[in-house]
Amino acid sequence: HDYAVIMAGGVGSRFWPVSKQTNPKQFQDILGCGKTLIQTTYNRLSRFIPPSNIYILTNEIYESLVKEQLPEVTPEQIVMEPVMRNTAPCILLAAMKIFKRDAAARMLVAPSDHWIQTEANFQKDMKMALQASEDNQSLFTFGVRPCFPNTGYGYIEYQPDETRTIFNAIRFTEKPDFRTAQRFIYSGNYLWNSGIFVWKTSSILAKFKTYLPEMFSLFSKGRNVFNTVKEKSFLIANYHLAENISIDFGIIEKSKHIKVIPAGFSWNDLGTWGSLQDELPHDIDHNTVINSRFIPNEAKGNIIRTENKKVVYIEGLRDYMILENQEVLLIIPKNKEQEIKQIRQNVMSTH
Ligand code: GDD
Ligand code: MG
Repeated sequence: HDYAVIMAGGVGSRFWPVSKQTNPKQFQDILGCGKTLIQTTYNRLSRFIPPSNIYILTNEIYESLVKEQLPEVTPEQIVMEPVMRNTAPCILLAAMKIFKRDAAARMLVAPSDHWIQTEANFQKDMKMALQASEDNQSLFTFGVRPCFPNTGYGYIEYQPDETRTIFNAIRFTEKPDFRTAQRFIYSGNYLWNSGIFVWKTSSILAKFKTYLPEMFSLFSKGRNVFNTVKEKSFLIANYHLAENISIDFGIIEKSKHIKVIPAGFSWNDLGTWGSLQDELPHDIDHNTVINSRFIPNEAKGNIIRTENKKVVYIEGLRDYMILENQEVLLIIPKNKEQEIKQIRQNVMSTH
């Protein structure tokens, strides 16, 4: 009864201009390990979830990328969204499809762009949650010990207790402002939401019915056609009508049945260049350089990633990012990395 859903429809806009709409980071070998992020995600899950029970949800523009990178996955396991509507509609659709196949299904939802090591611990935590999800109401999150007030994450408040492994979440706050995040970090009773979820499929459907009733009834109209040849035309006609909202804002923040398992595995969401730098080697001046020969002169703490330049010479620059692709050159202080999403939008709208 175990199923997994890989969400692979995001644009990775904080990784712009390297991650771009036509080739987002989940389809790239960002860390240079020989596999793309979606390939490592699929492999990690297929070691304990039956491979035919793993669904990939993505935007239709990435169809060929998914098929190319995961040739072992059948067409029925790949679900194309006609428009981008964030993660809530994507999860609801997957849940309804899976529920139709197996009303007793338990479901693991995973982002496609994370870097996870210590796999044995990962499996242990996932299996523990899958088992516990049989209580028919809880939504399981996996909490990561926070190390700085990152405003791009969800924060889970809990009451630490050495003797336990599963906790009732007291409160879930998605993407707080900087001051709030700072307060959370100082308090010590908060974990970062890893973005991976586990629940009984019937439990998440009940939550959609309560907290996103319009979306629930919109997709309910398609029940009869899910998993049939008519599914595609239903999605083309209806998917765009779904509210554009993440599962975190739409359900997790509101539900009273959130549990948190402090993650036993090492986790990096490769969400921004700063988080990537932790996984990559750097020189003695803490410069991380990808793809080019670098000649530093009093330059410290920079991240440089080029596609077209073979040599980069930098003098006196500190804590900046220099990112380049065919069309764009972005030079920005490292502490402004959360703003890249907005900058991308502004730049793209003027072109
Ligand atoms: N299929 C599909 N459709 N996938 C999507 C869509 C969509 O419309 N939008 C985003 N995704 C995928 C992304 O590719 C990514 O793998 C995953 O869903 C999460 O989306 P993000 O856009 O990366 O979310 P986030 O990083 O801002 O926030 C989430 O993850 C954080 C940890 O990395 C939240 O769950 C936070 O609470 C969490 O801390
Ligand atoms: Mg993310």
